[in-house]
Amino acid sequence: MYTQALDLPENAPVKAVSGVIDDPARLARFDKTMEDDGRIEPQDWMPEAYRKTLVRQISQHAHSEIVGMLPEGNWISRAPSLKRKAILLAKVQDEGGHGLYLYSAAETLGTSRDQMVDALHSGRAKYSSIFNYPTLTWADVGVIGWLVDGAAIMNQIPLCRCSYGPYARAMIRICKEESFHQRQGYENLLTMMRGTPAQQAMVQDAVNRWWWPVLAMFGPPDADSPNSAQGIRWGIKRISNDELRQRFVDATVPQAQVLGVSLPDPDLRWNEEHQQHNYGAIDWDEFWATVNGNGPCNKERLATRVKAHAQGQWVRDAALAHAEKQRQRAMKEAA
Ligand code: 3HC
Repeated sequence: MYTQALDLPENAPVKAVSGVIDDPARLARFDKTMEDDGRIEPQDWMPEAYRKTLVRQISQHAHSEIVGMLPEGNWISRAPSLKRKAILLAKVQDEGGHGLYLYSAAETLGTSRDQMVDALHSGRAKYSSIFNYPTLTWADVGVIGWLVDGAAIMNQIPLCRCSYGPYARAMIRICKEESFHQRQGYENLLTMMRGTPAQQAMVQDAVNRWWWPVLAMFGPPDADSPNSAQGIRWGIKRISNDELRQRFVDATVPQAQVLGVSLPDPDLRWNEEHQQHNYGAIDWDEFWATVNGNGPCNKERLATRVKAHAQGQWVRDAALAHAEKQRQRAMKEAA
């Protein structure tokens, strides 16, 4: 679907492929496309700010998928049965695939994979706060599927209508796979809730620990979200952080009832007038501490990523050597 042809030499600046910035006629055409709710493709002219916003969001999203493999990856070798192990392996591999589609989509904007990976490994790039929390028991694997992937779907379905074509198309497949992730997590929890009191307590404990970080995952309140207004004007974001959070709470409360777990919020109740649930205050200090590198597992997650990348150097070297051999052979044959 995508090409690596837009890879840039190391440290090259991110700039418009056209090299033209703020040309009024082109800007007018771009604005008209936005007004008509149309699509922008890689070869189309776009304002630098639009390009930068997309690179920021798509690369952060790609990093989240790749770092998101780690908390659950920890449980592959300890899955309770062959069936659960096969499901978890497939899910974690899916997340790796999502990262690759997203890096490819970001590459079409003229930034290279190496630049993005370097930004992650040096701590300059953000990735989702949620993946800095530990997975203490097997129930955490189920809760990540149910709540974390459930929240991701809520946030990501509207991205299938994003104004940037490659991002929107990547999101269609990602959302289908996320839907499987959410269901396997919920089914895993249902099985545990039909089990022993110890298993039930394990599920409740995991829900208690993940609930608030999951609500924070949707991003700061709209009033404190510097990127939202422009992102919505450009058709990148379609629905605000608070609105998505509210939809998630409303969808999750009945699911918790079916499961037989309580949600750890004494202020959670149905608001008849507004036809939605009221919920308690989110700890935004904890959120920002985690986003800024001081959550429970930030250092561990980054160190694991950097180590895995270094250990994969021989694979990249071998692939390059193989490509070079093929190039030489093709040149010989053409001569
Ligand atoms: N974790 C880390 N940083 C976050 C965050 C979170 N949960 N929520 C917001 N932020 C950051 C933003 O990136 C922004 O930082 P920046 O300006 O330095 O880039 C800052 O906080 C202010 O937030 P805004 O609301 O102004 O930022 P956005 O308008 O970009 O909205 C977003 C944030 C809702 C996360 C949006 O970028 C988005 O929808 N991104 C695409 C989806 C995504 O990345 N999801 C991450 C989870 S992926 C996942 O869960 C994998 C799945 O397999 C489970």
